[in-house]
Amino acid sequence: MQSISKLEKNSTYLKVVWSDGEESKFNYLWLRDNCPTAHDKDSRHRMFNILEVSQNINPKKYNVSSDGKLEIEWSEGDHTSYYDPKWLRENCYTIKNKKKYISPYKLWDSSLEKNLETIQIEHDEIINSEAGLIKWLELLHYTGIAIVKNAPVEKNSGLKVLNRISHTRETFFKTPFEVINIPKPNNSAYTAHALRNHMDLPWFENPPGYQFLHCLVNSAKGGDSSAVDAFAVADYLRNNEKDIFDILVNTPLKFRDKDYTQEAIRSVHGTAISLTKDGDYNDIRYSIATLDALDCHPDQMDSVYKAHHRFGNLLHDPKFQINFRLEPGDIFSFNNRRLLHGRTEFDPNSGHRHLQGYYMDRDEIIGRLKYLKQN
Ligand code: OGA
Ligand code: ZN
Repeated sequence: MQSISKLEKNSTYLKVVWSDGEESKFNYLWLRDNCPTAHDKDSRHRMFNILEVSQNINPKKYNVSSDGKLEIEWSEGDHTSYYDPKWLRENCYTIKNKKKYISPYKLWDSSLEKNLETIQIEHDEIINSEAGLIKWLELLHYTGIAIVKNAPVEKNSGLKVLNRISHTRETFFKTPFEVINIPKPNNSAYTAHALRNHMDLPWFENPPGYQFLHCLVNSAKGGDSSAVDAFAVADYLRNNEKDIFDILVNTPLKFRDKDYTQEAIRSVHGTAISLTKDGDYNDIRYSIATLDALDCHPDQMDSVYKAHHRFGNLLHDPKFQINFRLEPGDIFSFNNRRLLHGRTEFDPNSGHRHLQGYYMDRDEIIGRLKYLKQN
């Protein structure tokens, strides 16, 4: 562990020189706000109120205490703070901002189809072991896709394994939603038609982060599944067709849902690709079926439509897409704001086909994975 070897007071920050020569700048407001006494020990919420000190707060006295802590007596508020050097080093934003960002995502293309076993996980392994649960969560978070094998095929039985992660996300399609062909369908999923690669519910402000399609019966002819890693497609565009990538990142498209069973009109603007603060891929928003009449500026419409067209073609390109067939007891689990999924047409007279679908927020996957990995 590094220790503090030197301190230097500047106008807005304290410079810490570490025993390994690394240097950190700690802003005074930041330090005061993060005093270890600032938080309630149970809720871990901040009880200290930064608004009660002025913007000019600074160290009246500072030194390294005999047990190696950074000790600061503040210019106001009659308060002394003691910072553990380990905490300071781990939370040092000078060092963090110097590091090159490394994406956690493992992008994939059609070659994954030959290695489907790498994304499969046994249902009972998840139910019976934390290691199994972690493996599933890691596949979901890093690769964006997992197929749970040998789950029971009773109706609603998917909930038990999903609840190993957390609660599901409710929508007006109900939980689970039934993917089965019905008369007068209010969604094209409830037909026997092919579904082009799509994400579900892009017309929500915050579409579900994850989707789970639990196959109960699949004896009809056709109805094979497809999936594409749209982050990988976005990455291809970023590296090879930057003009198109920039349009997709910068121009809001419009999506809507207005089916006949709803007493709501759902409409949202969102870009096809959105990025994180580090420039990594955050969300994809793409669906041919529910794109609304676009309303971007007339000078942009042609290039926006062409970018949408190009993106869509790549999202169906055999170079990127994998094809597979769900078997009863499979739970096709995926990041709904990263992958697009689809199916071929099926013949409802040749047999039966029934999937049950569930949604879950992305926070549940990431929060649970972080929690399990910290132990
Ligand atoms: C859906 C869907 C896929 C399938 O219900 O949104 O994409 O294989 N279903 O039926
Ligand atoms: Zn779908």
